[in-house]
Amino acid sequence: MKQQLETIRQEALAALSGAADQQELENLRVKYLGKKGELTAVLKQMGKLSAEERPIMGQVANAVRAEIEETLEKAKTALAAKAMEERLKAEAIDVTIPGEEVALGHQHPMNMVLQEIKDMFVGMGYQVVDGPEVELASYNFTRLNIEDGHPSRDRSDTFYFTDDDSVLLRTQTSPMQIRYMENHKPPLCMLAPGRVFRKDEADATHSPMFHQIEGLVVDENITMGDLKGALTTVMRKIYGEDSVMRFRPHHFPFTEPSCEMDMQCHKCHGTGEVDGQVCSTCHGEGWIELLGAGMVHPYVLENCGIDPEKYSGFAFGMGLERMAMGRLRINDLRLIFDNDVRFLSQF
Ligand code: PHE
Repeated sequence: MKQQLETIRQEALAALSGAADQQELENLRVKYLGKKGELTAVLKQMGKLSAEERPIMGQVANAVRAEIEETLEKAKTALAAKAMEERLKAEAIDVTIPGEEVALGHQHPMNMVLQEIKDMFVGMGYQVVDGPEVELASYNFTRLNIEDGHPSRDRSDTFYFTDDDSVLLRTQTSPMQIRYMENHKPPLCMLAPGRVFRKDEADATHSPMFHQIEGLVVDENITMGDLKGALTTVMRKIYGEDSVMRFRPHHFPFTEPSCEMDMQCHKCHGTGEVDGQVCSTCHGEGWIELLGAGMVHPYVLENCGIDPEKYSGFAFGMGLERMAMGRLRINDLRLIFDNDVRFLSQF
């Protein structure tokens, strides 16, 4: 019997040390220590032993069981540690490998220029406001002193929603002057950027939808000098301190006097020619039109409940696309709306 136990011991220890995984260990535990295991089988024969032999064999059997159990535990721990190490190795991440580069987008060039312009006016105390694109004809025209029958009200130029022409897509941001003056009393300083709509065929300089930035300042003693000062300051900041500006008389129903502001062409420096060819940037004009402006018409102030005897103001409206084209040297308006990344990524 002692020999049997010794054989079991040796076999068990050898098998345990060679076990490859936890399952195999479990199988070995059952095989040697289980109820129907080899060791139990031997112990069942104890009854056949003599009274003197029994305790001695009992001791040996217990020692063998204890040794097998201990070895089993050790093997379990060792296998678990090995498995963990292998898993860690397999799942290891090399955090020092450079990551894949993600292509980052950026603001649309139009937004970049808009932001730049807004920042400048905000710095001068203007409040930036937003207004409806679907507008009433009374705001878009009538209260701006644009009477019935005026050519700009023509159905061939304006998108109307109703048969009586009372609701439309705003053709300019100037209705924001009225909306602002309805709710604010002078002194006031407003900037209203936004989309406007006109029935224009798209070409290099026209689009049925474009953006304007309206400005309005009303206070006591506001003069044309304030208008020129404010606009010249901003345009020089945008186009460079050495850029040359001019104000040219014009007509708008809602300003009096009215003017347009031009910048000398940066390409031909006002000559209208480059290398003997007509300048492509200003089409030979020598000047680039930047905006329309003027002193707010007394009728318009009156229409908003502001006393024109006490207050005066100036207003201006610039085309954002035109500003962006000049600022970023873009030669075709349609590129701005195409959103081709090859174009956008240049800015
Ligand atoms: N609303 C005019 C236009 O669209 C521009 C303008 C605005 C002129 C404000 C004078 C004052 O052409």
